Formats: sequence, C-alpha cells, structure tokens
Amino acid sequence: MTQALIDPFARAIEYLRVSVTDRCDFRCVYCMSENMQFLPKKELLTLEELDRMCSAFIRLGVRKLRITGGEPLVRRDIMTFFRAMTRHLDSGALRELTLTTNGSQLEKYADDLYAAGVRRINISLDTLDEEKFARITRWGRLPQVMRGIDAAQKAGLRVKINTVALQGFNEDELFTLTDWCASRDIDITFIEVMPMGDIGNEDRIGQYWSLKDLRARLAERSALTDLPESTGGPARYVRVENTGQKIGFITPLSHNFCESCNRVRITCTGEIYTCLGQEGHSDLRAPLRASEADADLEAAIRAAIALKPKGHDFDYSRQKVDGQVSRHMSHTGG
Ligand code: GTP
Ligand code: 5AD
Ligand code: SF4
Repeated sequence: MTQALIDPFARAIEYLRVSVTDRCDFRCVYCMSENMQFLPKKELLTLEELDRMCSAFIRLGVRKLRITGGEPLVRRDIMTFFRAMTRHLDSGALRELTLTTNGSQLEKYADDLYAAGVRRINISLDTLDEEKFARITRWGRLPQVMRGIDAAQKAGLRVKINTVALQGFNEDELFTLTDWCASRDIDITFIEVMPMGDIGNEDRIGQYWSLKDLRARLAERSALTDLPESTGGPARYVRVENTGQKIGFITPLSHNFCESCNRVRITCTGEIYTCLGQEGHSDLRAPLRASEADADLEAAIRAAIALKPKGHDFDYSRQKVDGQVSRHMSHTGG
C-alpha cells in the first residue's frame, strides 16, 4: 500500500488544484494588473506532463482534482487533458474532477466537460450589472458569461457562483445576487478579498468587505442555519431558512480555516505551492522530467508536503495589509 500524503500538522492532502495556464481572457482588478507578463508557452507543463503529475498525486491519495488557471479553458486542447482524467473517475480512484472558470468559454465546452465526467463547476461572477462587470473584469463581457452559465446548466452541470465580496462594489447587489442564484437553482459562495500580487493602484483595504458583515446582512432578512456539510473546499455553508437556499462563505481574513486545509496547488510550470498564502514552493517539473519512472517525482511530492506551513498570515486588522504574497492569484489559481 502506498502511504497517504500527510503534512506536519496531521492534515491529509486529498485535494489537488492544478493551474493549467497563467493566461486569462479577463483582467479582474483584484486579480491582475492591466499589463500582465505571461510565461512563455515553452515553460508550461505539456498536457502529457500534466497527466503524469495528476496521476502521481492520485496514486498518493488525492481524491478531488480541480483544474484552475488563469482561465483553464483558454489553454489549447485542454479537453484532451480532461478526457484523459476520466479514467481516474472510472477506476474510482478520483471522486471529483472539476474546475473553476470565469465562464467565458463554457458555451463552447460545457457538453464536453460533462462528457469527461465533470458534474459540478465553480464560476466566478461578482456582479449582475453589465457595466460593472465590464469594469471589474476590465476585458470581460457579461452576456458571454451568461450564455456560458446557461450552457453549463443545460449540459447538466451543477453550478456554483464564486463572488468576491467587494466593498463599494457589490454590497448593494447582495440580495440581487443571492435571489438570482436561488431563482436558477445555482449555489453561491462569497469570498473575502486576499492580498495577492501587485494589482496596480487598487486599494485592498478599501476593497475588503468582511463576510461577518455580509452574513449579518443576510440574517436581517432570514434566519441562517449553519450546515455541517462540506464540499471538501474551504467554504462553510448556511441554509437560508426562508427559501432553503444554500450560501457559502470563504473567510481567509475574518475566520481562518487553515486548520482543516486538505489541499496543495500546482502551477502551470510544475511548481508546488503547499499554501496559497505563503511564498514557499518547490519544483516538481525537474523530477518529473528527470526520469520516465515516477519515483523521483513521488519523493519530491512527499518532500514538499513535509514542508507545508500551518497557514497564511493575511491580516488587515491593523488597517494595513499584512501577509501579502507577491504572486498573483492567477499564478496558483486560487
Ligand atoms: P468547492 O469544491 O466548491 O468547495 O470549491 P473550492 O472553494 O475548493 O474551489 P474554488 O476554486 O471555487 O475556490 C474558491 C476560492 O477559495 C479560491 O479562489 C481562493 O480564493 C479560496 N481558497 C481556496 N483554497 C484556499 C486556501 O487554502 N486558502 C485561502 N486563503 N483561500 C483559499
Ligand atoms: N482575493 C480573493 N479572491 C480572488 N480571486 C481572484 N483574486 C482574488 C483575491 N485577491 C477569485 C476569483 C475566482 C477565484 C479563482 O479566485 O474571483 O472566483
Ligand atoms: Fe482571470 Fe479569474 Fe483572475 Fe479574473 S479572477 S483575471 S477571470 S484568473
């Protein structure tokens, strides 16, 4: 029997997030600067290498695989990779194959994703207002994403919306967003904005909207009941008693959830980041390329996980940004 991946704080690593590209067709203001320098394509792991990497992790006990980016669906031929991962679902080794996407390419790919065994996807959407959407994503257009969401639901994919809670931006849309999701049988999770990467002139503290406050506002309209269930990610869920709707909260700032962290991330160049909120990482591409056999790779994975830190140090409570990490969210895919 292979030994499972257990970190120094006795956390079992069962969730792998793999960024397949650092590129994106949007430029969300809290995620990227307008002029991003992207990696030369030759730096990226090939689709075959991504397959070997993910398969090694699955052998070592990963049960949930989430494909991220940048925008994962802008990577050329990415469906070939999804289809290759289907075999791990079929064998029962993998419980869930999923992705986080901005939705722009779903009209094209929703059916293929379903056919590859994806059943649930997370789509980022911070506003339902076309003008605000164009502003926050800089390059995105809402109708295209709406068509993507329609296509996903039509294909049979369960949709969860990720909304970054942004003060002065979408506070006034709290109920518009939750009601819209409820009316379409879509789940929604709110995320606190994290200090990741230089984003130009944007002001993180000014953007930050604590989910404690957001939750209190929801509770003014209906009682909320904490739910014990988990999707294996960082969100904690409540049920809105009036409607039965399920709402998730990802609270890296107001309530640290690192204690139960079960995940690591691979960048599109094959670096492993064992914490989203720390700089520490190691290279898995060299051991992957060093030999056809996976012994070196597996040893490098175990060595990296032995260094997984306790948690992030993001903190705004002193009215300044602490714990900032230098890389952008798109580098590790959230
Ligand atoms: P589910 O499977 O639906 O639970 O998805 P998920 O929440 O695991 O994945 P998703 O890609 O939707 O993640 C949403 C966001 O949560 C990410 O983009 C990050 O912003 C944040 N997040 C995920 N994991 C971590 C983590 O370990 N630490 C911190 N600080 N934030 C995280
Ligand atoms: N803080 C919080 N969430 C962020 N995302 C991107 N940048 C940040 C940030 N700085 C979110 C996106 C998407 C997910 C991948 O991460 O909106 O939902
Ligand atoms: Fe692209 Fe997602 Fe970053 Fe927006 S948050 S720029 S959609 S990677």
